Amino acid sequence: MSDNPYSTAILAWYETHARDLPWRSLDACPWSILVSEIMLQQTPVARVLPVWQEWTKRWPTPADLASEPSGEAVRMWGRLGYPRRALRLHACAVAITEEHGGKVPEDHATLLSLPGVGAYTAAAVASFAFGQRHAIVDTNVRRVLARTETGIEYPPKTQTAAETALAESLLPPVPSVAARWGVAVMELGALVCTARNPSCAQCPIANQCAWKLAGKPAYDGPPRRAQTYAGTDRQVRGRLLAVLRDSEHPVPKSSLDVVWDDHIQRERALDTLVEDGLVDPLDDGRYALPA
Ligand code: ADE
Repeated sequence: MSDNPYSTAILAWYETHARDLPWRSLDACPWSILVSEIMLQQTPVARVLPVWQEWTKRWPTPADLASEPSGEAVRMWGRLGYPRRALRLHACAVAITEEHGGKVPEDHATLLSLPGVGAYTAAAVASFAFGQRHAIVDTNVRRVLARTETGIEYPPKTQTAAETALAESLLPPVPSVAARWGVAVMELGALVCTARNPSCAQCPIANQCAWKLAGKPAYDGPPRRAQTYAGTDRQVRGRLLAVLRDSEHPVPKSSLDVVWDDHIQRERALDTLVEDGLVDPLDDGRYALPA
């Protein structure tokens, strides 16, 4: 097995261009790396940074988080969005504390068995926290590989087995190099090979990129819709949760009713928050973050 044709150029680029992010520092512990990976799903680095700092300060170990009610995790999640991730991280902390002696497991299959940990997160933690060799395939990596290898501007909407196989085939043989390669490709996608207006002039592998060499043919797949937020149930859920986060005590229904005019949409959003376990309806008619 030898290194892939891009690895030297991409690894050298990463050496000089990588952002100095705290979860990449040598003293980041496996738990803080796991927290970062869950927070970074679907959420930009700039929004994650302050919340990650607060979380890791308040709950430096899984046992620290597990000892508090899950509602505190939801409160500290702040405005990161997709707040079910906070509940999953709390459940993960409980599982690690109760079943794994309080230490984040190193083994990929055991990582996968934790609540809220899917293929991406297990591979990322095994690689970045423990220096193992696993294909890390997130949206940035998928876009880089679609362009350089497949010659198309955007990857398919949902990840295919062919994309996973391609990422595996490109993994450098030495585990520590493979782990670095994973984060380097991700960073190239985040900073250079961006979704819109990629900076090909800054790209270390522009002269090996199938899409660039083909003259950057325009995308002709199914429409790619940007996610809307304004007016959606997600926005209403966000406003309802903000009321509960900002209050130290359970709140009456009237405090929730003022955040959104459309009563049908508001009730639907509240129902789904309760169903998801993010909001607890108390017997006295008030609402609280989960205990
Ligand atoms: N560094 C390590 N994992 C990362 C991620 N998911 N996004 C951005 N930077 C990272």
